[in-house]
Amino acid sequence: MCGIIGVLGNHEVAPLLVESLKRLEYRGYDSAGIATVNGGKLDRRRAVGKLVHLSDLLVHHPLAGHAGIGHTRWATHGAATENNAHPHASGPVTVVHNGIIENFRALREKLAPHGLLPSTDTDTETVAMLCAHYMAGGMDPRAAVQATVADLDGAFALLFLFSGEDDLMIAARKGSPLAIGHGDGEMFVGSDAIALAPMTDQITYLEEGDIAFVTRAGAEIIDACGAPARRAKQRIETQSTVIDKAGHKHFMTKEIHEQPVVMAEALARYAPNGMPVFPDALDFTRFDRVVMVACGTGFYSCLTAKYWFEQIARIPCEVDVASEFRYREPPIAPRTLAIFVSQSGETADTLAALRYATGRADMVLSLVNVGTSSIARESDLALAILAGIEVSVASTKAYTNQLTVLALLALHAARAKGSLDNGALRAHIEDLRAVPDLMRQTLALDSQIAAMAGTLAPAPSVLFLGRGVMFATALEAALKMKELSYIHAEAYASGELKHGPIALIDPSLPVVVIAPHDRLFDKTVSNMQEVMARHGRVHLITDAAGAKSARAGTAGVLELPAAGDLAAPILYALPAQLLAYHTAMAKGTDIDQPRNLAKSVTVE
Ligand code: M6R
Repeated sequence: MCGIIGVLGNHEVAPLLVESLKRLEYRGYDSAGIATVNGGKLDRRRAVGKLVHLSDLLVHHPLAGHAGIGHTRWATHGAATENNAHPHASGPVTVVHNGIIENFRALREKLAPHGLLPSTDTDTETVAMLCAHYMAGGMDPRAAVQATVADLDGAFALLFLFSGEDDLMIAARKGSPLAIGHGDGEMFVGSDAIALAPMTDQITYLEEGDIAFVTRAGAEIIDACGAPARRAKQRIETQSTVIDKAGHKHFMTKEIHEQPVVMAEALARYAPNGMPVFPDALDFTRFDRVVMVACGTGFYSCLTAKYWFEQIARIPCEVDVASEFRYREPPIAPRTLAIFVSQSGETADTLAALRYATGRADMVLSLVNVGTSSIARESDLALAILAGIEVSVASTKAYTNQLTVLALLALHAARAKGSLDNGALRAHIEDLRAVPDLMRQTLALDSQIAAMAGTLAPAPSVLFLGRGVMFATALEAALKMKELSYIHAEAYASGELKHGPIALIDPSLPVVVIAPHDRLFDKTVSNMQEVMARHGRVHLITDAAGAKSARAGTAGVLELPAAGDLAAPILYALPAQLLAYHTAMAKGTDIDQPRNLAKSVTVE
C-alpha cells in the first residue's frame, strides 16, 4: 500500500531515497516524503501527489544527511495533504508506516493527558508520539520502540529514525513486509527487494513480529518474543527487479505485449513435454474439493478456473473474495485443497484468508508472482506464475499467467481423477501452446480495438456480457475498464440480463459482448438480440465463425483468431485489456497509476 525506504549511508542519502521511492511509487502515490538526521538534527520534506512534486521541492529545499527514511503514501487515515504525509514526527522520533494502527484512537486518549495531542489526521502520528512519550520517560530508542510496538494493534511495517542518532534505524514488521538490505559499510531497509535493488542484492526478509535494530555495522533482529533471531541473508536476482518501459509509453502496454513470452515460459515450466508437471505434493487423489480465494483480478482468474475444475476435472470448486471469506469463516470439509491467488503475494485480505485455511484445509497452495512474498512463504506449496515484475497497477500479464497455471492445474487434476484420457489432455495442452501465437495476432488488432475504445470513451457507463467461462472474462473486462478509464462498467452473465439489467438498455449504453463461437454462442446471441431489439449498441468480440453468424445489427465486431475452449478466456483477456487501455488514453487518465489505487494492498 505505502512504500518504505531507509538508508544508513556514507554520503548524502536524499537522492538514494528518492530513487528508491520511484521504484516504490506503484504502492501508492497520494504523497511522498523523506526525513534525514544531519548533525544530530531531524528534518523532513513532504509533498502531496506524485513523487515528482517531492523531487521538485528538494531542488529548491535540499535535505542533507547520511541517514534517512522515506515514504510513498496510499492514504488510509486522513486526506492526501502535506500535513498528513509521512514521515511523521514527534519530539526526537520520526517514523514511516505501511498498514493500519487499529487502536490509534485509544492510544491518542492515553497520550492526551501527557500533553501529547495529534496535529494530523493519521494513525501513524500516534506511533511517533507514543515512542517519543516512552523516550521522554527515560527509555532509549530501542526500548521505546519495543514498548511502542507492544502497544499497537493492527498490521504494520514501521521504520523509525531518531534525532541525535545518525547510525540507527529501527524497523518493525507485523502484517506488512519489510526487508533489510546489506551494503558495504551501509545498511538499508525497504518494503521489498525492488526498492533496495539499486543499492544491494543482499537481502534479509523480516518475519512476523520481528524488530530489527539497524546500524551501519549490520542488523540485530529480535523476534515477537523479544529473543535474538537469525534470519537468512539471500541474494536477489537483480534482473528480476529491473524496471523499465522498454520503449513503450506505459508499463501497462509493455506488460500487455509481454504476455506471449511470459505465457510460453509458464507453459514450458508446468507442461514441458506436453503434459502437466507439478510437484509430487500436489496429488489430486488426496482432494475431493477445491476452495479458491483471491481479490480483484486474481478473483476473476479463480472464477474462470472454477469452470475448469468442475467441467474438466469434475471436482466441486468454491470461489470467494478474500475479504468475505476471512470473516465468513466457512467450514472447510476434509480432503479440501485451498488455493490462494495473488500477484503481489502481500494482499492483506488474501493472507488473512490463507491463515484461516491453514490447519483446516488438507493443503494450502498459492499461486504468486513474487516468490519471496508472505503468501508464498506461508503456503504449504507456492507455484510461481512466472509473469515477471508487473509495475502497472492494472494487472494484465499476471492475470493471463494465473489463468495459464490454473488451466494446467485443472488438467493435472483431471488426469489424477481420471476424468480425461491422455489424448484429450494432450489436445487441451496443444490448444494452450497455441495461445502465445494467437496473442501476437490479437495484439496486431490494436488499431481496431482503439477505434472501438473511441466510441466507448464518451459513454458514462459500459455493460459487458459473457456466458459460461466468458462471464469471468466479462467481469475482468469491466474491472479493467473501471480502473483505467474511471467509466462505470458492469458485467453480467448474459443469461441474467433479462432479470433486471435489461432495464438499463438504451442507445447511450454501449454493451460489449464477449463470445467466442463455442457451444453457448447461440444462447449469447439470443441475449444480444434482446439488447439490439431495444436499440442497445452492441460491440461483439468473437472469432471468424462468430462474426459470420452474428455480425448483423451490431455496432462493431472485433474478430479474434479461433482458440480452443481452455485457451479462449486467456486470449480474450487481451482485447479486454487493450479496450480499457485505449479508452483510458482517449479520456486522458493516468494509465499506470490510476487515481485512488495502489498495486499492493496490504491493508484491509
Ligand atoms: O496482488 P494481488 O493479486 O493479490 O492483488 C489483488 C488485487 O488488488 C488486484 O488484482 C487489483 O484488482 C488489480 N489492480 C487489478 O487490475
